[in-house]
Order: sequence, then structure tokens, then C-alpha cells
Amino acid sequence: MPSMATPRITGLGRDDAEAFLEVDRWGFPDPNASDEPDAVAEMLSGIEWDRTRGAYLPDLDGQDRLAGINTVYSVDLPVPGGSVACAALTWVSVHPLYRRRGVLTGMIRDHLLGARERGEPVSALHASEATIYGRFGYGSASRLLYGELPRGSKLREVPGADRVRIRLEAVTPDRHADLVGDCYEAARKGRPGMVSRNSPAHRRQAVSDPPHRRKGAESLRIFVAEADDGGPVRGYALFRRTDTWQDIRPAGSVQIREFVARDPAAARALWARLLNLDLTSKVQLDHRPTDDPLIHLLVDPRAGQISTADNLWVRLVDLPVALTARHYTTDLDVVFEVRDELCPQNAGRWRLTAGPKPARCTPSTDPPAFALDVRELGAAYLGSVSLTGLAEAGLVSVTDPSGLESAARAFSWPVAAYCGWTF
Ligand SMILES: CC(C)(COP(=O)(O)OP(=O)(O)OC[C@H]1O[C@@H](n2cnc3c(N)ncnc32)[C@H](O)[C@@H]1OP(=O)(O)O)[C@@H](O)C(=O)NCCC(=O)NCCS
Repeated sequence: MPSMATPRITGLGRDDAEAFLEVDRWGFPDPNASDEPDAVAEMLSGIEWDRTRGAYLPDLDGQDRLAGINTVYSVDLPVPGGSVACAALTWVSVHPLYRRRGVLTGMIRDHLLGARERGEPVSALHASEATIYGRFGYGSASRLLYGELPRGSKLREVPGADRVRIRLEAVTPDRHADLVGDCYEAARKGRPGMVSRNSPAHRRQAVSDPPHRRKGAESLRIFVAEADDGGPVRGYALFRRTDTWQDIRPAGSVQIREFVARDPAAARALWARLLNLDLTSKVQLDHRPTDDPLIHLLVDPRAGQISTADNLWVRLVDLPVALTARHYTTDLDVVFEVRDELCPQNAGRWRLTAGPKPARCTPSTDPPAFALDVRELGAAYLGSVSLTGLAEAGLVSVTDPSGLESAARAFSWPVAAYCGWTF
């Protein structure tokens, strides 16, 4: 049985890039990985080295060995009615020889302390496996849709959609990084979960298209919905097609990498183009929000195969700051009790009031209406997971049902939470 020695966790710098990448590749087997210096530089270009951490454990000879890595992107996270500074945890990997010895546990503790010190009340991540992060207080706060639609799926009419000017181009980072970055930035506001993606490196990565990443499909293409007056674009779809044949019939697919539309007519016009490309038989949606207009536009919503999965996981790092950073749908005055083993400063009874004045969250000694783990509070935080639903699942203990109901109503939000950037 391997020992549970506490890993030594410390900052990594650019000089550690090679060791960092090696642990990443042990964690994530990648048959398409390239060692070309340009490809490696591009891959690492979004890393914030001053927020990159390594966990060391002794190897068989007693030498310290880099066993685990992670980094953080400093992002802005839209929350209901506002936004918060968020530590977006990413590049999490533990070398297979050192797994299940507490390396990730140590790195998460270190990460949460670091986020709190920097004044980030929330941490968020995308999970490679949905079973990993609940134990650390991360709640599944948004869901996504994925699946495929047959070519030619009919769409309802939208006024003005046939007049939207659509451009089709091969993607080049120089030409499209800012077009995509600016449109993404404008569209994300008001959508809880849709984190910022604003560094120059991340803007370029959003449209980068190294050949070793194409997996047999063509190079990246873009449909752009132009503004009539030459102003900011109304939307875009990044996609590629495969050249597939079944016997003598074309059976290519359209693989959508990212879709953003800023108005209904642009969305309708872009989807119509994607759904009607010659020599294809289907459109593959990688991920869409659960309230995506496409779902309402489909004349036959059963024609495709659409599934749902977890999307962004949210962890409250500084509970009162996080809860007062968001708005609430109705007035609220409720006391609840929170369990939080990793961040004990979040644990205890809190009174949350919201109304015409900004929300307040203060310690309380009054009897709580309900009690829950910080994980469930993280799940409900973005307004898309109902506290009553969590209570029905037995994950919230209720002593005052009306208190729970008013909290559930106040926490809910009309725009579905979703993060379109899998960082
Ligand atoms: C997932 C990963 C980071 C876990 O690291 P680790 O150092 O083995 O995790 P720990 O030893 O700290 O495990 C802590 C607990 O989580 C559990 N756990 C860890 N990974 C798990 C997984 N993939 N599924 C279910 N449980 C998991 C452990 O069993 C342990 O439970 P216990 O406390 O009841 O014994 C590591 O296995 C890995 O690098 N995997 C491949 C890359 C990856 O998926 N990275 C995550 C990107 S989001």
C-alpha cells in the first residue's frame, strides 16, 4: 500500500515547463501530442506561471519528484445580476505512479488557500471525471447539451434572419482572434458561468488550429454574422467538416467548436448555414447551454439526439463575499447552516438577507431553516440548480420548509448557467 505522505507543494515557473508538461501527458494520454517547439509554446501560452503549482513526493530513491501539477486562470465569473473574481482551476494532473496518495487533496487545499489570499471568493473548474471534485466542496452548477442533429433539420422562422449577412472564411489567428474574442466577451455578460477569456494567449488559442489537433477533419472554418453598419459582429460559428462516405453516399459531419450569437436573427441565420452544408449528413454539437435558442427553433425537436451532462463546477471559497456578490430574484431573509471541512471559515450559521438594498450575509445564532454542505451551495450559486430539488434528493436537511422555499425562489435565475469555454 503506497504511503499517504503529505506532498510538498510549491510554485512552478517557466523553467519547470518541461517537467510540468511531462506530468500533464502522464495524466492525459494524448495520441496527437506534438513535441514541436512551436506547438509546445502555443499549448503553454495561456499558463499564468505565477499561479502554477507543483506537488512533490519522494521517489523510490528518496529524491523529490514532481508528482502533481495545476494552474489557475484569473477570470471574471458572471453570477446572477453581477460578477465575481474567480480562480479557474485547470491543468490538474497527477502522475499515475503517485495517484491515490493524497496529491490532489493537497493541491486543492493549497489552491483554495491561494484563491482566498488573492481575494477570489469562488473557484470553478471543468471536471474530467464527474466523480472527482464533489468531495472537495465543488458543486455541479450548470449543465450543457451535446449531441447531433441531422443535416437539413428545419428551423422556425425568425424575423430578419434571411437578411443577416453571413461570411465564410478559413480561420487564421491573426484575423480572427480578436473578432471571436470581442464577440465572445460581449455575448457572455448576463450568462451566469460564462467566464471571461480575455488574455491575448487565450484569445489566440480559441481559434488556433494546429494540424495535429484536427483528427482527420479539415482545417478550422468560421461563419461570421456581420453587422449591417460595419459595427461589431453579431455572431460566429467555428467549425470543421469531415470527409466521410458511406458506400456511395456522403456522410460527413459538421463539428462545431464554438457558437456565439448576440441576437435571435443572427443565431437563426448561423444555424441555418451549419445545418445545410453539402456532403454532410449531420451536425455535431459539442456543448450548448440548456436554454439554447436552437432547441426552440427546431421544428422537430426529436429529430436529433441531444443529451445532457455536467458543465461548470463551482466552489465557494469565501462564502459571505460570494453570496453577497450575486443578486436574488426575490426579497429574502433566511438563516441556514453550512458544513465545510476544507474551508472551516465558511462553516456555521449564516443569515442571508436580500431586498432593495444589496444582499448581506452575516453569522447568526438563530435556528436555521435548512442545513447543507458547501457543495450544494456551490451547485445552487449560479441560479440553475434548485435548492428544493437538492432537498428532494436528500442533500439539504430542512427544518422550515417555507424558509427553504423562499430561498430556492430567491436563488433561481431566468438565464441558464453555462460556461462555453472548456478551460
Ligand atoms: C484525478 C486525479 C487528479 C486524482 O489525483 P489523486 O492524487 O489520485 O487524488 P487523491 O489521492 O488526492 O484522492 C482523493 C480522493 O479522491 C478520490 N478520487 C481521486 N480521483 C478520483 C476519480 N477519478 N474518481 C473517483 N474518485 C477519485 C480518491 O479515491 C480519494 O478518495 P478517498 O479520500 O476516499 O480515498 C488523478 O487521478 C489524475 O491525474 N487523473 C488523470 C488526469 C485527470 O483526470 N485530471 C483531472 C482534471 S479535471
